[in-house]
Parts: sequence; structure tokens; C-alpha cells
Amino acid sequence: MRDHFRKKYQLSKSSKDTSHLSAAQGKVALPRQLAKLIGPETPAKDDGYSLLSAFQGLNFNMGMLGGKQTKSSTPMSVNGEACKGIQGMCVSVRQAACVRIQRGMCVCPAGTVAGIGVEGVTPARGGPAGRGGGRGLRRFEEIPHTGSSGWLNLVKFWREDRFKLLHKHMERTFNTLGPIYRERLGTQSTVNILLPSDISELFRSEGLHPRRMTLQPWATHRETRQHSKGVFLKNGAEWRADRLLLNREVMMAPAVRRFLPLLDEVARDFCRLLATRVEKEGGKEERGHSLTIDPSPDLFRFALEASCHVLYGERIGLFSTSPSQESQKFIFAVERMLATTPPLLYLPPRLLWRLGAPLWTQHATAWDIIFSHAEKRIQRGVQRLRSTQAAGGGSGGAEGEFTGILGQLMDKGQLSLELIRANITELMAGGVDTTAVPLQFALYELGRNPAVQEQVRGQVKAAWARAGGDAHKALQGAPLLKGLVKETLRLYPVGITVQRYPVRDIIIQNYHIPAGTCVQACLYPLGRSRDVFQDPERFDPGRWGTQESGEGAGGGGGFRSLAFGFGARQCVGRRIAENEMQLLLMHVSEGGMEV
Ligand code: HEM
Repeated sequence: MRDHFRKKYQLSKSSKDTSHLSAAQGKVALPRQLAKLIGPETPAKDDGYSLLSAFQGLNFNMGMLGGKQTKSSTPMSVNGEACKGIQGMCVSVRQAACVRIQRGMCVCPAGTVAGIGVEGVTPARGGPAGRGGGRGLRRFEEIPHTGSSGWLNLVKFWREDRFKLLHKHMERTFNTLGPIYRERLGTQSTVNILLPSDISELFRSEGLHPRRMTLQPWATHRETRQHSKGVFLKNGAEWRADRLLLNREVMMAPAVRRFLPLLDEVARDFCRLLATRVEKEGGKEERGHSLTIDPSPDLFRFALEASCHVLYGERIGLFSTSPSQESQKFIFAVERMLATTPPLLYLPPRLLWRLGAPLWTQHATAWDIIFSHAEKRIQRGVQRLRSTQAAGGGSGGAEGEFTGILGQLMDKGQLSLELIRANITELMAGGVDTTAVPLQFALYELGRNPAVQEQVRGQVKAAWARAGGDAHKALQGAPLLKGLVKETLRLYPVGITVQRYPVRDIIIQNYHIPAGTCVQACLYPLGRSRDVFQDPERFDPGRWGTQESGEGAGGGGGFRSLAFGFGARQCVGRRIAENEMQLLLMHVSEGGMEV
């Protein structure tokens, strides 16, 4: 595992670990493959951002499927420790790697990173300005900060390559300056906070049309290519109008009931294929078969297959022995697009576009691949729906048939085809690595926490048996699955900040914050804060049950689990993502696989 990733999440430094990884012969180096696909001359300089490259081997050890329960054959697990196989198929997760700091639709610009060359710092922790300090209101300028020159910070940031460790930088800065600090980077300026009570104050003032920091490189791509923008990039009343229509097809309970069986089908297929593969390719051990693989390409394919099934109502065949090059190219393009986003955030994309700068060209080319792939799928979907309509079936397909979110949107006819296209493309781009990566972390944590794994499996098996094959019921009967996803995202958030521009002046930590200031809730330091979570390093899906879910340390009640953002502007793909991840983890457990 690259040092960068090991450091990022404080994973093992053990040499055993490394040798285990090399023995596993990490099978992918997707960024390089991506670089070749997108432009052979592109140097794979983005290793630091690439999650995929960090996954250098996952040891899928398959125990006895439905076989007898014997003592663990102790396949290697993460950190070079012995992984206790418990029963059934043991999927021994090897190095989980690391979430790229900023990703996907769910990228947060996390804009403000600079060195801790702190200038004029007034630490707030425990000081008079602290919450409840009782002193008079303090001015905005008095908020502790990391240096007054945004440009100096930016230079330092580039020089020290801090893009790769934004989340650690934030954590360190909170430790030094207290629970609130200001930061300038280039032209951007933010106030960073982490306590739930402060975050709740921020979200209370987000207004009717909440705004995030604009991802300018993405917006510039749409503008220069004359593509419409989807909800991710829109603001104001325009955003709200589209978002309300999308919510009906993606977020509301009836919509979830429509698409859940499709996700379930893909998750079952995935687990079935994995089981077959472990049996065929895995070495025979005392407890069954054991196979070490790098899971990331499979999980990325799973995520794309699942989102396409939900979006278009049809399978795209990524689990076949020869999945299409085109889809593979799409996955690589999403990776490249995400990897080139952070460095572009602080540079003027239009200027780079005019200059034909390589970084911009790579970014725009990746987006072009994403758009052309989505466009082909959309065209096919549209043709299919039109021919069904022509045959008198309505665009919703035959009675009771779900034709995907595309079909639903077309059927309602409230969004123009151009806007449907813009939003479906965003949903596609946002629906792959956002779920594939946390799934890898979930498996990683299960692999190194066999007791948790056993507890989850026990609950899932009981719920599965009670549900009689009904996936929806089974999920409801196994709350630990929900906790597992939440806990994974607490420790490894997909985006490290959620930003808002309050519509009125607010007071946080006794500091005055004018309306229109960019304030970010920093998820990584929040998730690992001792002030907010008991024993934060412990992986404990059960903590999201009753004991810690209420008003905890740091106040703010529910504002401790914010991986999907909050309120009207929260992740529109949330229900797809949660169900997709839970279903996969459910079938891994219910099928007797061990990690
Ligand atoms: C574990 C998986 C995911 C996580 C943690 C995640 C996280 C987030 C976050 C934090 C935001 C910003 C929310 C806010 O500002 O309050 C967001 C927005 C968004 N996400 Fe996700 N996301 C995930 C999966 C997905 C998936 C699967 C899709 C598409 C199917 C998706 C599509 C979007 C879109 C389109 C937005 C913009 C919504 C808007 O501005 O109205 N996300 N996501």
C-alpha cells in the first residue's frame, strides 16, 4: 500500500503487510490504465488521489460455502494480522485503501487548505470565545486563521502537496486552533467547523435554495461544451425546480420500492459470481476455498452495473466474461475526472482551457468520455421507450414494468429531454466510485474486526430467514447493515466537507459570521473527534443504534452523520447508494461469505 494511503488512515506499517500485498499481486493499477485510455502520454501523476491504486490486493478466501463450521484457517487480513475466518466463505479483505479525499458528485471542494504556518492565531479551544464562554460576541476577523495571504497559502499548499492530505490538514488545524478556524487559499476563503452543535446552526440558516461551493472545473466543462447543467451544478430556483422532480424518482419511498429489486438483482448476481470464482480459483483450505484478489475492479463494475440498471432499467453486462471496453473506459474516465478536479479548483479553468493546458485537457477529455457514454445509453433508453410507446405501452413500459429513472422522468414529461440528459449523466458519474470505495472500506473493516463481522452475519442471516427472500424486509430486519454503512462513512467519508453559504448572519462559537460566508462542516475530523464520538477509532456499527445516536458530546443531536450532506440539498443519490451498499453487504453475509 502506498505510504500516502497508509498515512491517510493510519493503516498498518508492518512489513508483513507489505509483503502480503505484494504476494497478492495487486491486479490493477487503474490510474495508469486510465491514463493510457484517455491519453497514452498522460503521466500517472495522480497516484496520490487514486483510491484504486491503493487497493493492491484483496484476499478473498472462500471457506466452505454452506460447509461445516470449523475453526478459522486464519487467512491473512489487513495489517498482516490473522483474519479469523468464522464460517462459510471467508473473504479475506486485504488492504483496504483509502478514500480519495474529494470525489464524485459528492466532491466537496474542501477548498481551503494551507500549511499550518499560522499567523496571528488566536486558539479558540477552551478559550473565552468557546461555546458558552459567556463573553461578548467576537468579530469575524478574530476567528483563528491559518494565514492571511491566500496566495502564500496556495503556494505552500502546492509546494507541500497538501491536496493529498486535506483531511489530515484539517484535523491538525482543528487540534491547533480549536473548533473553528478561517482559511484562505488563492481567491477562496472559508470558515471551517466540526462540532455538531455548530453544524446544526449552519444548516438552520441555509435558506430555501442551499448552496455549496461551485466546482468550477465541472461548470466550465459544461459551459465550454454547451451542455446543460444538472442539479449538482445549478443553484437557486432553477436548482429547486429540477431537484423536486428528481426527488420523486430517486429519493421518495415509492421510488425506492421501485428500484430496490433491481439493485437486489445485481447484488445477488455479484455475490453468486464471486462465490463461484472463489470456489473455482481459490486454493483449498481446511475451512474451504480461499482466494486473494483485488476487489476494486469488481466493485467498480458492480457499482456501474447497479446504477445503470436503476437509471435505464436494463443490465449492461459488466459481469460477463468479456465486459465491454466502453464501460471500462467510462469507469476509468470517472476516476480521471475526479483525480484532476482538486488541482483545478484553485486555478482559473477558462484560462487553462484557452491555453490548452494538459491538466485541463485531461479533465475535459475525461468528462467528454463520461458524457458520450451516458449519451449512448440515454439514446438507447429513449429509443426503447419510444418504441414501447408506439406499441401502445406508454413510456413507463408494460403494466407494472419499471423502466428505470430515465423512463420515469420521460413518462412524467416535466423535465425537458436536455435536462433529463444532464441529470442522468450526473447521476451516472456520481454513482460509481462513491459506492464502490466505501464498500471496499466496509469489507476492510469487517476483515479486521471478525467479531463485528460475526455479529452482522448473525443478524443478517436471521433477518434473511424471517424475510423469506424479500430484500426490503430483510434490510429492515438487519439494522446493523445501516450502521455498517454509516460507520464506514464516519471513518472514511467520501467527501471531506459539506459547505453552505448562510443566508443570514449567524453566530458560531461566539463569533459573528456574516451571511454569504462559505462555511464548511469538516467530516473527517468530525468523524474522528473524541469530543463527538466515544472511542472514535473503534469500528462499531452498533454505535448508530440507540446508545450514541441521540444528543452526544458536541451537542447537535443528529448532526454527527453527515456523509450524504443535509436537508433539501443532501445527496440526491443517497437512497440508491445506501440500498446498493447494504444489499451487497447483506448478500455477502447471508451467502455465508467471510471477509
Ligand atoms: C456513499 C455514497 C455517496 C455519498 C457519501 C455521497 C455524498 C454526497 C454529498 C456529501 C453531497 C453534497 C450534499 C450537500 O451539499 O448537502 C452529494 C451530492 C450529490 N450526490 Fe452524492 N453521495 C453518494 C452517492 C451518490 C450516488 C450513488 C449518486 C447518483 C446516483 C449521487 C449523486 C449526487 C448528486 C447529483 C448530488 C448533488 C445534489 C444537489 O446538489 O442537489 N451521490 N453527495
